[in-house]
Amino acid sequence: MVSTIHCDSLWYGADIVTMRGGKYHLIPQGAMAVTDGKIVWIGPYNELPSICASREVIYQGGLITPGFIDCHTHLVFGGDRSAEFEQRLNGVSYAEIAANGGGIVSTVKATRDTSEQQLLEQALFRLKPLLAEGVTCIEIKSGYGLSLESEIKMLRVARKLGELLPITVKTTCLAAHALPPEYAGRADDYIDYVCNTIIPQVAEEGLADAVDAFCEHLAFSPAQVERVFLAARLAGLPIKLHAEQLSSLHGSTLAAKYSAMSADHLEYATESDIQAMGNAGTTAVLLPGAYYLLRETQCPPIELFRQHNVPMALASDANPGTSPTLSLRLMLNMACTLFRMTPEEALAGVTCHAAQALGLHDSQGTLETGKLANWIHWPLSRPAELAYWLGGQLPVSVVFQGDVRQ
Ligand code: NIG
Ligand code: FE
Repeated sequence: MVSTIHCDSLWYGADIVTMRGGKYHLIPQGAMAVTDGKIVWIGPYNELPSICASREVIYQGGLITPGFIDCHTHLVFGGDRSAEFEQRLNGVSYAEIAANGGGIVSTVKATRDTSEQQLLEQALFRLKPLLAEGVTCIEIKSGYGLSLESEIKMLRVARKLGELLPITVKTTCLAAHALPPEYAGRADDYIDYVCNTIIPQVAEEGLADAVDAFCEHLAFSPAQVERVFLAARLAGLPIKLHAEQLSSLHGSTLAAKYSAMSADHLEYATESDIQAMGNAGTTAVLLPGAYYLLRETQCPPIELFRQHNVPMALASDANPGTSPTLSLRLMLNMACTLFRMTPEEALAGVTCHAAQALGLHDSQGTLETGKLANWIHWPLSRPAELAYWLGGQLPVSVVFQGDVRQ
């Protein structure tokens, strides 16, 4: 007996790149049935079972990919750092600028001086171009407040963005991003404050989905980061880490020891770090925008990630200092051109592996039965074109949880 599938909507007329298992897994002339914002059937149109849909959408060719996931951003901040960009072009290094009170701390001052409403408006302005190119889920970190009040202000703005626009927002508390000026020379005291006050409070208020820290000579030591991880664990929050960006401190090994969802940047990761990440199931989040802007020369060890089966995610790292980008698709091209990732790896980096970096792989990142109906329709014929074209506003339309996003 043939049973009929009843669904809210049926979509067909395009080739579907499912990204199942991190591969293209192309379904030529595919179809998807959707109910309650989730995919209830996917496969070739000519294998469609008996179906009764309230609505049908027929595409005129093109490609469908999962919605993009930007799994590492600092999208909420006050001011900008174009003056430092100019300084760097006049020969001053990122580390020197930071040591002279610039860098992250200058954005901290601007963020503290900006009202919640203004921060929201400025972040909306930056989020819209990401939406236009098909981002359906974004992670946004705090870390430019560095006091309870201003970290909460940033996280509230991030949450609000997810209420105002059709996008999933995951928030991360990055209070251990830099030492605020009022704690100069007292890094351990600041870490006490982060662990005993900021993390418990943001967890209590439900404002953070994860905890992150910056493990680097110009930020916090592995011992200090470990205390942050313990506080996160106590608060019941998963962890992530900015590690091995400018030097090797083996923060990524520490992150793996605490079963981090991801370790991010990783230009200086060693084979033992990568082995530890592989064993712990920690995703590598690679950030070619920051690598490019800082004119780094040491590439993340892509071949070792491949060998140790560490999933590679890609993100914009959108921030005012090292990656002032409003395009995740540009990161696909940079990952291929600068890091020699393949276009298929790059696409996995902003879909299924990005979902894994946020602990969302059960619900999004691929187009499969049971996953959210989040996808992008492109007027393209080959998925490699996504990494190949530079610039341009390519998507024809974006579907978020079963509805075409306006
Ligand atoms: O991910 N590495 C540390 N944090 C940011 C940079 C933040 C800034 O310079 O404002 C990053 O690159
Ligand atoms: Fe970052």
